Amino acid sequence: MSIQVDVAAQRARACKTFMAQVHSISAKEGITPSTLHALKLKLVALAKRSDLFPLADFAMPQAQARTHPLLVEENDGHGLYLTISLPGKEAAPHDHGIWCANAAISGRERHVFYRRTDDGRKTGSAEIAKVGEVLVEPGSGMVMADHDIHSTVVVGDRPAVGLALYGYALARFPSVTWFHPEFTSVRATASRRHAA
Ligand SMILES: [Fe+2]
Repeated sequence: MSIQVDVAAQRARACKTFMAQVHSISAKEGITPSTLHALKLKLVALAKRSDLFPLADFAMPQAQARTHPLLVEENDGHGLYLTISLPGKEAAPHDHGIWCANAAISGRERHVFYRRTDDGRKTGSAEIAKVGEVLVEPGSGMVMADHDIHSTVVVGDRPAVGLALYGYALARFPSVTWFHPEFTSVRATASRRHAA
C-alpha cells in the first residue's frame, strides 16, 4: 500500500471517529451553546492533525473557494467538509439557518458576527449590528447556532484551509439569508431541504 492510500484511510477513520463523537455529545444534551462549544473543540483537535489533510489530496479552487466532502451522512445527517478559500475571498453577512463549526488547518479567515436589530416586519429589509469577531487560524475555530449571522474574509496572502461541520449536508441546506447592511436589505436563497 502506498503512503498516500494510508493517509486517505487514516483520514477516513479519523473523520468517522470524529462524527461518532459529535453524535455522542449531541445525543445526550442536544444542540445547545455548551454542546456546540464541545463540538468546536473536537473539530479544532481534528484540524490540528494536519498530516491527515495534505493539500496534495485536495484540488485548489478555480476561483474563490472550493468544498471537498470528507464525511457526508445519509438522510438528514451532518456534513463534514474540507474547505479551501483563496486570499481575499469574502462573504457578506448571512444566516445559514443551521448550526456550523469551523476550524483552521492553515491560513487565516476573519469572521465577524452580527445580530439582527429590526423586527423583521418590513419585507426585503433588515438591520444588523456587529456583536463580535474571531480570527480563525490554526489551533482555533468558531461555532454558530442555527440563526447566528456572520461575514467572512480570508486575510493574508495564503489560502485559508479548514474543516467545516454543518448540522445538515450542503446538498440539503436550508435557505441562507444574506444581509446587506449598507442598504438595510435582505434576501434569501431557495431552501434545498427537499433535495434528494
Ligand atoms: Fe457562512
